[in-house]
Amino acid sequence: MKKNRLPSALKAGRLFLKLGLLTALSGLLNPCPARAQSDSLNYDESRIPPYQLPELLVSDGGKVIRTPAAWESIRRPEILRKFTENVYGRVPGKPADIHYKTTFLDQHALGGKATREEVTIYFTKGEQGPSMVVLLYLPNGVKGKVPVFVGLNFTGNHAVQDDSTITVTENWKRINTNNAPTLKNLWPAQRSGWAPARNNKTPHRGEEEHRWPVATLIENGYGLATAYYEDVEADTPDGWKNGVRGKLQKELKIKPAEWGSISVWAWSLSRIMDYLETDERVNAREVVVTGLSRLGKTALWAGANDQRFAIVISNDSGEGGAALSKRIYGETIELINRVNPHWFIEKYKTFNFAPEKLPVHHHMLIALAAPRPVYIASAIEDKPADPKGEFLSGKFAAPAYTLYGKTGLGVAEQPPVDTPVGETVGYHVRRGGHDITLYDWQQFIKFANRHFSYSFR
Ligand code: GCU
Repeated sequence: MKKNRLPSALKAGRLFLKLGLLTALSGLLNPCPARAQSDSLNYDESRIPPYQLPELLVSDGGKVIRTPAAWESIRRPEILRKFTENVYGRVPGKPADIHYKTTFLDQHALGGKATREEVTIYFTKGEQGPSMVVLLYLPNGVKGKVPVFVGLNFTGNHAVQDDSTITVTENWKRINTNNAPTLKNLWPAQRSGWAPARNNKTPHRGEEEHRWPVATLIENGYGLATAYYEDVEADTPDGWKNGVRGKLQKELKIKPAEWGSISVWAWSLSRIMDYLETDERVNAREVVVTGLSRLGKTALWAGANDQRFAIVISNDSGEGGAALSKRIYGETIELINRVNPHWFIEKYKTFNFAPEKLPVHHHMLIALAAPRPVYIASAIEDKPADPKGEFLSGKFAAPAYTLYGKTGLGVAEQPPVDTPVGETVGYHVRRGGHDITLYDWQQFIKFANRHFSYSFR
């Protein structure tokens, strides 16, 4: 019998042993659930691998940041640049030929309590080029200039209120924009494929009304400016071709690959701000930027780039928004890049299996709001968005506020459900799932009331 001739049972045993060793070894090298492409997300706190966050208040050159001046001149620009270069891409400025036209006016909207307008923002000369329509509500009969909430909507201005006079955008026929593969453990809406076809004959007026409590805002003296995000750029991997990135390359001096669609939508929020600055009824120093989910990520990025927004609010923004991506719980960098490759620049994909290499982190995105107030809203059932990770971002952003003598969250532990906390950084985790509800808005209004010196009656 030759030396290496083993009985087949023994051979099989060795093979198993080898395979076992290999698996164990790859497990050791690859302990983190985020490393492998996987559709089953981690929802187990005990399985979160240890992670380290980059220092918020130490500059790349090793300088400890101790003053607002050092934050503003050294560290803040460094952090902004890292997000730009590694995650979202650049956000260009305002196009030279931007101009506005009120295309609808009703001074007796909501039973006379509000003025409702539609303002078309044209990004180039004339009226044929790319544009967006802002649906604007301002309260009637108030003293002084009005603070305004600004945010993009998901399904068209006509979906914000059930009002037959609201113009239906030509781009409203969003057909299954989120071409997500079917993924386990994600939001039910995504599991079944996004609202299949909105391409039938009748637009659903008021479809998103529960997300936009216009009457409540007006009663509290606030205005609202919203626009349909896909008017700016369709939410698909090739949406850039017919959107702002494809059409305004020359005007904005930027190539499509230099920014992702979150940057494009954030850019459009700044264009709404440009308009609001020209509107005498509006207090442009009291404008709040907000958004839900991918539009919450957008609101945070808009607030980071454009310091004219006085308060920044993220609602259920999750991965790529308020949540800490290095904390492997819920959605991961790999998954978000796979499902929505167009949201971020290509560079972000290099961190798919190496979140620890990302030189910047999402508590820093929150800190880019400092010293302005920032509010993070989570929902307890919105597990893919990692409510605790969203809370921790707010907590770890606090040192930036301390530099200004301000208290950030002021609490160390995530509060119980429906218990808002915080000072200059606000936070709540509401009962229920991924959405924005009247409860969320009520907290945002209270937060804005606390930080704005506004008395409207
Ligand atoms: C997707 C995505 C999330 C995002 C959400 C939304 O499910 O994976 O990151 O927040 O859509 O925008 O509703």
